[in-house]
Amino acid sequence: MRKNSTTLAAIGLTAALIVAMAVQGTSLPTALAQSPEATNAPALSGWTTFSPDMVDGKVILPALASPLPENCQPPAMKDKYTIAMSQANKAEPWRTAMNQQLEAAAKEAGFDIVFADAAQDNAKQVSDIENFLTQGVDLLVVSPNEAAPLTDEINKVWKACIPVIVLDRNITNTGYSMFIGANNVSIGKSAGQYVAKWCKDKGLAPCNVVELRGLEGAPPAKDRGDGFREGIKDNPDVTIIASQNADWLREKAVPAADAMLRANEKVDVLYGHNDPMAEGAYLAAQSAGKDLSKILFVGIDGLPTPDGGIESVLQGRIGVTFVYPTGGKQAIAWAKLILTQHIVPPLWVELPFSSIDPSNAQDVCNQYACPDAKMAEMTPEATP
Ligand code: FRU
Repeated sequence: MRKNSTTLAAIGLTAALIVAMAVQGTSLPTALAQSPEATNAPALSGWTTFSPDMVDGKVILPALASPLPENCQPPAMKDKYTIAMSQANKAEPWRTAMNQQLEAAAKEAGFDIVFADAAQDNAKQVSDIENFLTQGVDLLVVSPNEAAPLTDEINKVWKACIPVIVLDRNITNTGYSMFIGANNVSIGKSAGQYVAKWCKDKGLAPCNVVELRGLEGAPPAKDRGDGFREGIKDNPDVTIIASQNADWLREKAVPAADAMLRANEKVDVLYGHNDPMAEGAYLAAQSAGKDLSKILFVGIDGLPTPDGGIESVLQGRIGVTFVYPTGGKQAIAWAKLILTQHIVPPLWVELPFSSIDPSNAQDVCNQYACPDAKMAEMTPEATP
């Protein structure tokens, strides 16, 4: 197949971004978000570039000439396709929701879908993906546990001419067909700005924040932390006085929050990088005998399930959370376009997010039919 100058320019853009990221030490979504707007490369023969009506979200990086390496042919037409889903950890509620959405959308599209659960173990996820490669699946969807340890294996599948869609947590290069996820820097920044205003409205100076971070090698943890630090700059009285990793898990957040609450007499805000950790912080504050009515608990995910963030806001535990879309439906929609119509997707699609606090929690709950929302049945527009 022929390479043309636009293709080379697009490849050059990607390479330049990767170099820029390495130099600045930023995680991929942050670096790419700062990239200039670029246009789609002309598609290689056998492929057709996406059209804007196919995009549910915002195009951050345009289409390359092909979603596969240039030596690959477009996928063969088949009666039945098998999609593989490599999930970082099925035990977390948000990931269960993602799997349910993928399963329902795959069924509707007429695809078979097979799942693997890495149980938060990078080595297990590498071998899960290797197994899928050996089995010869038609397309891989993957939500990596951590970026660096999964990058080579994900690149390997893509280089074997199997389309790869990366969801929610990016890897350290763009050796895949596309990435779909929300902007975690923006979410963190919104959380920080909410805290800055809340502290000001309460007249808290200083206003002390304790942070519970996600798994360090997962880009959303860095991005949610960096964005939050940006957001609280709106109010110089806000200070992060303690920060610990709890790896996204409620059971790890309880002892981590407990230790930080006992070491610091005045804590006004507990920021969890996800709702389960914010709930863990609430439990810790409760058992440490704190006045819960005076503390703001901040989370991210906003699931419409009985133990999800929307109910927690309605019940007065989490003070503010953010709907973090899973991208499950969008991943299957793009899989279908890639496999059955040979459409070149954008290299990166950003999904929207929204905030939930007591002022809108009931409305959001009604919109998503919480607490009994059937994640699998939700439309893409109403999919958190
Ligand atoms: C689940 C989870 C979510 C979070 C996302 C970030 O593993 O921790 O709660 O929003 O991953 O990647």
